[in-house]
Amino acid sequence: MAWFLYAAPLLLSMVLGVGGIGANWGTQATHPLPPATVVNLLRNNGFQKVKLFDADYSTLRALAGSGIEVMVGIPNDMLATLAGSSKAAENWVSKNVSAHVGSTSTVNIRYVAVGNEPFLSTYNGSFLRTTYPALRNVQAALIKAGLSNQVKVTVPLNADVYSSSTDLPSGGDFRSDIHDYMMQIVNFLSYYGAPFTVNIYPFISLYTDPNFPIEYAFFDGNATPLTDGSATYYNMFDANYDTLVWALQKNGFGNLPIIVGEVGWPTDGDKNANSDNAQRFSQGFMSHISSGKGTPMRTGPVDAYLFSLIDEDAKSITPGNFERHWGVFFFDGSPKYSLNLGTTNSGTLVPAQGIQYLARQWCIFKPSAKLDDSQVAPTVSFACAKGDCTSLGYGTSCGSLNAAGNISYAFNSYYQINNQLDDACKFSGLGVVTKVDPSVGTCKFNIMIQPYYGHAGHDHGFLGKALPLSVSLIVVLLLIL
Ligand SMILES: *[C@@H]1O[C@H](CO)[C@@H](O)[C@H](O)[C@H]1NC(C)=O
Ligand SMILES: *[C@@H]1O[C@H](CO)[C@@H](O)[C@H](O)[C@H]1NC(C)=O
Ligand SMILES: *[C@@H]1O[C@H](CO)[C@@H](O)[C@H](O)[C@H]1NC(C)=O
Repeated sequence: MAWFLYAAPLLLSMVLGVGGIGANWGTQATHPLPPATVVNLLRNNGFQKVKLFDADYSTLRALAGSGIEVMVGIPNDMLATLAGSSKAAENWVSKNVSAHVGSTSTVNIRYVAVGNEPFLSTYNGSFLRTTYPALRNVQAALIKAGLSNQVKVTVPLNADVYSSSTDLPSGGDFRSDIHDYMMQIVNFLSYYGAPFTVNIYPFISLYTDPNFPIEYAFFDGNATPLTDGSATYYNMFDANYDTLVWALQKNGFGNLPIIVGEVGWPTDGDKNANSDNAQRFSQGFMSHISSGKGTPMRTGPVDAYLFSLIDEDAKSITPGNFERHWGVFFFDGSPKYSLNLGTTNSGTLVPAQGIQYLARQWCIFKPSAKLDDSQVAPTVSFACAKGDCTSLGYGTSCGSLNAAGNISYAFNSYYQINNQLDDACKFSGLGVVTKVDPSVGTCKFNIMIQPYYGHAGHDHGFLGKALPLSVSLIVVLLLIL
């Protein structure tokens, strides 16, 4: 029995090649799951690799001894400091890498991601000049710490650092305005045997270009194929990946290893973001890479991290309302759709275990209140600003609510995020707490999970319900005794 459980991931890693499938673990959530719960979720679903956006202490401690390969991250706002001071880079490596790999319960740190998409155009070039010096200083610090053989540096880049002059992969090269910066980085990665990391998003192409042929985003081979010399492309992922391979090759780095740092599809917040499309994309991607064939330009296993593991309800929605819905799992670690990661035979994802929810109650728009009440607009915009209304709007999971339903949804979101505090359902007398689930059809009115307080450095300030819970636990214990 037991050997079978462990043998399945092993067999998969033989099919997928090096390291199986990875997941991005972001924590920009009002109620992040406890790190130990997430590590169990990763293990129970057979993820062999995880990519972090920081080097949070409790996250890394939870990963200790799990064997899961870890990519730790340096946030963009630290790049200037690390670029300017080798001492700062040494401190970073000492505190955030050495401390975890040298201890008795070792964290399997394999990569340090220096920055996150630092060349994104929305940053106006703010990190162009600091990324490479930071990369250099972190590498030097890893060498000094004696870790440079096991821990490699990389820079997760957005796919628009390269483009094609011909619209074919073979026309690929790094963007001319950042070509020199890219050459510095690529040269450096190549010299130290480190990988190029790129994030590839067919969904974003579809979102930004109304003429994008939707079938080309998926892996079913239904799109009109693109012919490029002797290569034929049936999906955007392969074409995009190969545009990078061509760009590297053209500049003399055709063998540089590539990691797909992020790939995925959101499930809400846009008309193309739903579970069906996400399931189709993610399963298509998994099946595509598990064949081990690779792309026309780069045969062999594809090293990839799904974006993302769990929804994050506190992410900025500047890029779009879909930003908070990238998870393969909902905020509470429940699976959104069936997905065969190749690590389990059944194709069913295993939900997070031991989740504690708040009480079964919701905050809604008082049935006796009037839709034209002058307080409706200000209370809703307040609730949506502090809560999460990204599931409202055209084509979303709650897009067909009526006006009262919309208001209730906003109120409930704010109420749950504030741990069902009585004060969080006032809304100038327009809100009322109900025990009847207001969910309709695809529109789910969530009940929040119990806040987790162990997360160092994350003070959410919502202490309201913690005491009653521990008091009731003590009462239960006393009764049992
Ligand atoms: C370790 O990394 C975190 C970011 O994840 C950062 O806040 C902290 O300052 C780092 N420690 C040092 C000593 O640089
Ligand atoms: C980038 O520039 C635009 C327009 O000049 C500005 O609105 C925006 O705040 C800038 N963003 C950053 C991150 O500097
Ligand atoms: C509900 O809210 C969404 C998003 O704010 C809006 O687009 C939609 O028109 C609203 N529906 C009704 C019936 O008020």
